[in-house]
Amino acid sequence: MAQDDVFKKLVAHSKEYGYVFPSSEIYDGLSAVYDYGQYGVELKNNIKKYWWDSMVLLHDNIVGIDSAIFMHPTIWKASGHVDAFNDPLIDNRDSKKRYRADVLIEEHLAKIEEKISKEVEKARERFGEAFDEMKFRETNQRVLANQAKIDELNARFSKALNDTDLAELRQIIIDNEIVCPISGSRNWTEVRQFNLMFSTEMGSTLEGSNKIYLRPETAQGIFVNFLNVQKTGRMKIPFGIAQIGKAFRNEIVARQFIFRMREFEQMEMQYFVQPGSELEWFAIWKEARMLWHQALGFGAENYRFHDHVKLAHYANAATDIEYRFPFGFKEVEGIHSRTDYDLSQHQKYSGKKIQYFDPEKGESYVPYVIETSIGVDRMFLQVMAASYWEEELKKEDGSSDTRVVLRLPAFLAPVKLAVMPLVKKDGLPEIAEKIVHNLKFEFNCQYDDKDSIGRRYRRQDAIGTPYCITIDHQTIDDRSVTIRYRDSMKQERVKIEALLDIIKEKVSIVSLLRNI
Ligand code: GAP
Repeated sequence: MAQDDVFKKLVAHSKEYGYVFPSSEIYDGLSAVYDYGQYGVELKNNIKKYWWDSMVLLHDNIVGIDSAIFMHPTIWKASGHVDAFNDPLIDNRDSKKRYRADVLIEEHLAKIEEKISKEVEKARERFGEAFDEMKFRETNQRVLANQAKIDELNARFSKALNDTDLAELRQIIIDNEIVCPISGSRNWTEVRQFNLMFSTEMGSTLEGSNKIYLRPETAQGIFVNFLNVQKTGRMKIPFGIAQIGKAFRNEIVARQFIFRMREFEQMEMQYFVQPGSELEWFAIWKEARMLWHQALGFGAENYRFHDHVKLAHYANAATDIEYRFPFGFKEVEGIHSRTDYDLSQHQKYSGKKIQYFDPEKGESYVPYVIETSIGVDRMFLQVMAASYWEEELKKEDGSSDTRVVLRLPAFLAPVKLAVMPLVKKDGLPEIAEKIVHNLKFEFNCQYDDKDSIGRRYRRQDAIGTPYCITIDHQTIDDRSVTIRYRDSMKQERVKIEALLDIIKEKVSIVSLLRNI
């Protein structure tokens, strides 16, 4: 199936099964804003718990906070967001569509990369076992020509970004004959800067009101609380502060469902270290974060690092962890070495000394910071994309049927166990209800007695429930039930009394955390 179709199906599935709804849908929606439904909120909470526990529970030198969304407006001046949190936008005069100039160029680069990948795959098929990919890349003329185009374009592109040279960005688009995907024309406007922060007024009277911003990242709430946490928690460097919370960006182009939203949630951790040790810590966190992603079992080959060509003004190293979405490899998480930029800026703008006295060195300094920053919603999309599965099932009469399964890791699944009486009589519903009542204190259980047992299994497969148990007449005789496994569809008989231990162990976060 084409990857575009997979993505469309995933979006439709998310809505049909109560995961994600368009915001304000009965009013025709609000662009790039989404609501999470009854299963979506559970999955989201489980993702957040996996992240929070891996940071705060597993590290005795990382603590959490929950800072306010509204902050003093000078914070955004100090952080550089008022002056520099911009995207370069460009309009196509024919389609009247607006684009990010940098994204148009990145997509053009990705298309050339795609050509190389196709060439490599064709050769792999032709040469079979004997294929040497590295040698092929180094010698094939078409691959070399395309690679040279990429290198040349990348160099020009990163220089234009580094110099904030908007005219050059436009010229790159013109020279590479990049067309508008809607109109197909090259009738482009000039490139302009567009600030991504939402602002509002705080205060009751017009004269007394202040312009304030909805935070575009949660990180600044951590920086401005550095001293509070360090002093009250008696934290010693190196230490980290973690936070999960909403962030808001007036994205120019908000596309691809919950991948790029205007209201979203971030999970950020700032790790404060001695100046000079930051690149060592950067390498440590880079590896730790990749391990965290890969522990979910979606296949190591689907992740890669993308080191930044253009470093933000505050960073001396930065990389993205990218996942292979149905629309290509895209960023899920950023890991940045932010130097002492943020703390020094807040020191300067607030006039307060923001330093750490290092008892071992016997001196005070402004700590350096390694940041790990991941979007909850983007992680949600990654988990859904990795879990969505269509499976062809052969029936006994030779025909086939398709089942849609969300193969969510058991810990992340919104419902862990569905309890189903085979029929709605003979005391079976009462036994099922009793089981739910006993187990619901441990994990999320669902009682389900509507439709045939086959349809009920399919419904649970579609929401990703890893275990279903069926109560039948044998249960009355020997207190055994069948447990049915979502992925293999295998069934086995177990005693009711054994259920708690069997399922609790399988859905526990502990084994996941032990792997990272
Ligand atoms: N404090 C650093 C920072 O905010 P970022 O790369 O701009 O860095 C970090 O954002 C992460 O937040 C991204 O990797 C992505 O997962 C998520 N994110 C950023 N913008 C987003 C948007 N408009 N919609 C959804 N997630 C977004």
